[in-house]
Amino acid sequence: MKKYMSLVVLSCVASCLLMASPAAAETVQSLRGAREIESPSQKPEVEKLIADQRPIKRDFVQQPPLIPHKTEGYLVTRNYNKCLSCHSWANYKSAGATKISPTHFVDSHGKELTNVAPRRYFCVQCHVTQADAPVLIENTFEPMQAIK
Ligand code: HEC
Ligand code: HEC
Repeated sequence: MKKYMSLVVLSCVASCLLMASPAAAETVQSLRGAREIESPSQKPEVEKLIADQRPIKRDFVQQPPLIPHKTEGYLVTRNYNKCLSCHSWANYKSAGATKISPTHFVDSHGKELTNVAPRRYFCVQCHVTQADAPVLIENTFEPMQAIK
């Protein structure tokens, strides 16, 4: 009888633990937050972007320069590239913008092309706008000696 009782107790404990586990899962923070699967996602917070300014100092030689201006509504499609309307070699002078560097004309086989290489066409894969926000994590990173 005693043995039987302890089995009952054990199975009670086990089922309690099992029932407790979904509650434990809720404390896991995903990007979506601890929300029911059925409920809509929270609206993402949109940071205020920096005001248009002069180029931002680079931290290492190979760094894709940060975009020092707003890019909202700048469309890049197969047929049209808003960025190139100011940054291409044909347009940079009239736009007062930096021209894209010759590295952007080299394809993935190292072949020099006469126009922007496909792998460099989608500018914001590498170049990013900056939010006017405090640093997420303090760090002690120092720029490379070559460009200090
Ligand atoms: C209306 C014209 C215009 C458009 C469109 C434009 N830019 Fe610019 N961009 C500029 C100007 C002007 C500067 C600043 C040049 C200066 O002050 O020396 C600049 C600066 C930059 C720089 C900094 C260069 C450096 O040397 O640090 C990057 C990177 C850049 N733009 C990327 C982009 C990307 C990517 C897009 C498309 C999403 C884009 N720009 C669209 C005009 C433009
Ligand atoms: C695969 C990543 C990548 C893509 C895509 C890319 N860039 Fe760059 N870009 C870089 C890197 C890295 C540098 C700095 C080193 C160099 O000049 O190649 C750079 C440099 C630049 C510069 C500064 C040139 C200078 O002389 O200082 C401009 C302007 C620029 N890119 C604009 C663009 C535009 C506009 C596009 C889209 C048509 C674009 N980039 C696409 C990586 C990229």
